[in-house]
Amino acid sequence: MSYFLGIDVSTTATKALVIDAQGAVASAASTEYAFETPRPQWSEQDPALWWRGARESIRKALAGADIPGREIAAIGLTGQMHGLVLLDAAGRVLRPAILWNDQRTAAECDEIARRTGRAELIARTGNDALAGFTAPKILWVRRHEPAVYEQVRQALLPKDYVRFRLTGDYATDRAGAAGTLLLDVRKRDWSDEILARLDIPRAWLPPTHEGPDVTGVVSAEAAEATGLRAGTPVVAGGGDQSAQAVGVGAVREGVVALTLGTSGVAFASADQPFVDPDGRLHAFCHAAPNTWHLMGVMLSAAGSLRWYRDALFPNASWDELLAPAQDVRPGAQGLFFLPYLTGERTPHADPMARGAFAGLTVRHESKHMTRAVLEGVAFGLRDIFELMRSAGLTSIEQVRISGGGARSPLWRQILADVLETELVTVNTTEGAAFGAALLAGTGAGAWGDVREACDATVRIAGATPCDPETAKRYRPCYRAYRGLYPALRDSFRAIADL
Ligand code: XUL
Repeated sequence: MSYFLGIDVSTTATKALVIDAQGAVASAASTEYAFETPRPQWSEQDPALWWRGARESIRKALAGADIPGREIAAIGLTGQMHGLVLLDAAGRVLRPAILWNDQRTAAECDEIARRTGRAELIARTGNDALAGFTAPKILWVRRHEPAVYEQVRQALLPKDYVRFRLTGDYATDRAGAAGTLLLDVRKRDWSDEILARLDIPRAWLPPTHEGPDVTGVVSAEAAEATGLRAGTPVVAGGGDQSAQAVGVGAVREGVVALTLGTSGVAFASADQPFVDPDGRLHAFCHAAPNTWHLMGVMLSAAGSLRWYRDALFPNASWDELLAPAQDVRPGAQGLFFLPYLTGERTPHADPMARGAFAGLTVRHESKHMTRAVLEGVAFGLRDIFELMRSAGLTSIEQVRISGGGARSPLWRQILADVLETELVTVNTTEGAAFGAALLAGTGAGAWGDVREACDATVRIAGATPCDPETAKRYRPCYRAYRGLYPALRDSFRAIADL
């Protein structure tokens, strides 16, 4: 038995990734699906899609490398965070899962702040009540769907529903659990105080485990459905951001994982729980045992560039789109882009925030607009870095960049210059599924701990140094950028009301 399997239950697909005992990728397969927006601000998915996706992807990944199921020594789970899956006493799904990007719960967030006291909520859970998190979704179902609520006996995160189908057990990891708003981030277990104030039964929540801990084994029924061996251990794994961080080796204080996907995430590993008293950053448990992390999430990072291309240059390749922006001087001749296309989470927790170009003049051409989009995302990420420093995380020694947007050398350079730090890339590119497979291997004893697993498999592959002259030029631009959201906030509200 010399392989480990990582399963990533994401919003768009469930992916299965097989690695060998040296961490080399042996095989990968993915099964895509959609999510539903039955009403404005709603985002839902049928949990059956994840289990079907997992079954198909596991079978495809095993077949792709001709690996018999019995060769898989352990399985790790990761996936979209913050979602709510409600089950009845027989383990049946009661309603479609409400996802992380659902924004229906503004009233319930206010209710949570009222019932818990905002400062106490942040002190205990590490986080403010945000519409995407799990707890407000439970309150929403209680208020709007009492017939469903009455039947609830178990509340799970999306990847833990797949765990339930694989093993028959209810369990979760502490990194994912921290994204529910019900975990005491210091104690690394459910907060009885917050549960009591919100009147949510602890019995509905599964036991919590550290990322590499075994939570159960593959059942005979699931073995039949997937081609895996019955009895294969399944480890807790981690929410997608912490598994992604493991996958790029961000498991030590001082190392930050910067992921430039649809969203932009800065994830700083920490040896102790750093809590931002204003709750603007997320303070979560890491999937690495007894490690925490501070995280800021920009909702539309590479998503902003994709929108810009699709809306204005639908036939352009990425190279055709980006090449002209290379010749534009830093600062895009005074043109700014605000990347709040889907509202924002960090640093402005504001579902009403909107995107904007500010500073347009007749001298601007499309290449300036392209550059402004790249720079606007970089300024937004700098906001997150500034918040991290102000929360006390001053020792940022290395920033490891990954995700689709990180493939552009131009964007990497802009980011290095705006963030005023060197950015490094690593050899591993399979993201959260790879991190989940490393957690599985650690649980199976292939490596002594998560850090050892990362040291053995993740290597620095390249570096983008900061250019000090350009960095200096960006400073006044960043100051101008910072003034734009406060100046426009009320207008964004008025626009949303229209
Ligand atoms: C993390 C977050 C996203 C989702 C979807 O806080 O909201 O990473 O987990 O991938």
